[in-house]
Order: sequence, then C-alpha cells, then structure tokens
Amino acid sequence: MLPVAVVISGRGSNMEAIARAAQLGDSRYRVVRVIADRPEAGGLARAATLGVPTAVVPVKSFTDRAAFEEALHAEIAASGAELVALAGFMRILSPRFVARLEGRLLNIHPSLLPKLRGIHTHERALAAGETEHGASIHFVTPELDGGPAFLQASVPVLPGDDAERLAERVLAQEHRLYPLALRWFAEGRVRLDGDTVRLDGRPLAQPARLAELEPDAAR
Ligand code: GRF
Repeated sequence: MLPVAVVISGRGSNMEAIARAAQLGDSRYRVVRVIADRPEAGGLARAATLGVPTAVVPVKSFTDRAAFEEALHAEIAASGAELVALAGFMRILSPRFVARLEGRLLNIHPSLLPKLRGIHTHERALAAGETEHGASIHFVTPELDGGPAFLQASVPVLPGDDAERLAERVLAQEHRLYPLALRWFAEGRVRLDGDTVRLDGRPLAQPARLAELEPDAAR
C-alpha cells in the first residue's frame, strides 16, 4: 500500500474523493495524512470525518516561504508518505521544495493542460469560446502548472454555461481522475523520467483521456 499525503488549502472535495477511494477494499494506496496550510480549510473536517489524520502547517505563522516550506516538508516526511498529492493547494512552491519531491509530487489542475495554466480557468475557457474543457493530473515541476500531465478528463462547454456550472461539471471529473492517477502511481504504472511521463514503461506523448478509457462513464 502506497502511503500518500494530501495537501490542501480549501474545501477538500478532491481530497475526499481520494480518501474515500482509498477506503475501498481494492485500493493500492492509503492516505496517511491530510495537511492544510490554514486552519480554516474546510477539508480538515471532511478528513477527520473519514478518520484520516490531519495536520495544519499555518502559512501565516511563518515569516518567509522558506520557513513554511521547511515545516511542510517536515510534516510530509513525518507522515511517511511516499507520494504527495496537491489537491486545491493554493500556494506556489519553490523549485527547491519541488526538487526534493521530484517524481513524487502530483497536482490536479482544472484545465486541459497545456491550455489555461494559472487561475480562473473556467472563466477563461468561457471567454475564449472553448467547446471543450476539463481537468488534468500532472507531475509538479518548478514551472507553474507546467509539469507533464498524464491523465485528463474532458467535458463539453454547453450553451448557457457560466463559470459555476462549468466548474461543477469539471469537478465531477476531477473526483474520478485523482483516485485513478494515484492507483496508477501506486501500481508503478506511471513514472516521471526527466521531463517525460512513462506509462507502462512507454513515454507518453499525450495525456491519457479518462473518457476514452471508461467510455460508459457519465459525462
Ligand atoms: C479544484 O478545482 C482543483 O482542480 C483546483 O482547486 C479546486 C479544489 O477543490 N486546483 P477542492 O478543494 O478539492 O474541493
């Protein structure tokens, strides 16, 4: 069983999807700790309800980013996690922090990367007139939202969508994506090799698309 730490800043719905999947009999990973950067993060209560140990590394109590990151790294190390899943974690991590976890740090981003890095992706997808939007799981590298993505799910942009409705549709896919990505990692199917992701040993030219893997799944 791969020990996983989930790092959050907010409501933690992705964390919950990850933790619930981990509690199913066939899971290949377990969540050893949920770590938040603020005590108000709603996900902390959700994690506690699920019986998952929680910790807070309150960013506000540190004078600089280096000190915060040192404490966050120590918390991760103490948890025994071998993989770290950022799930709605709203801080930019330094290259030094990222390098220490190279190949063991994942993030979920609400767009079909490399499209729409950064924030407000749903508003920007609508403004750009996209007909397709979605979410991606990627390895974290020092470049913001720039690390290689290996698993995506798409949703259609529908007439009359606003950012909230679109975000909801994407979020439902996010909740399917992250548990599967963690399973793949736990099974040793997915690995970062330099700048490339290998899936089942082969370099992945394009991220795998969940809809294509599970064609019956509801959109
Ligand atoms: C998700 O949309 C995620 O993709 C983005 O922030 C949101 C977090 O939601 N990075 P939650 O905290 O997992 O509910």
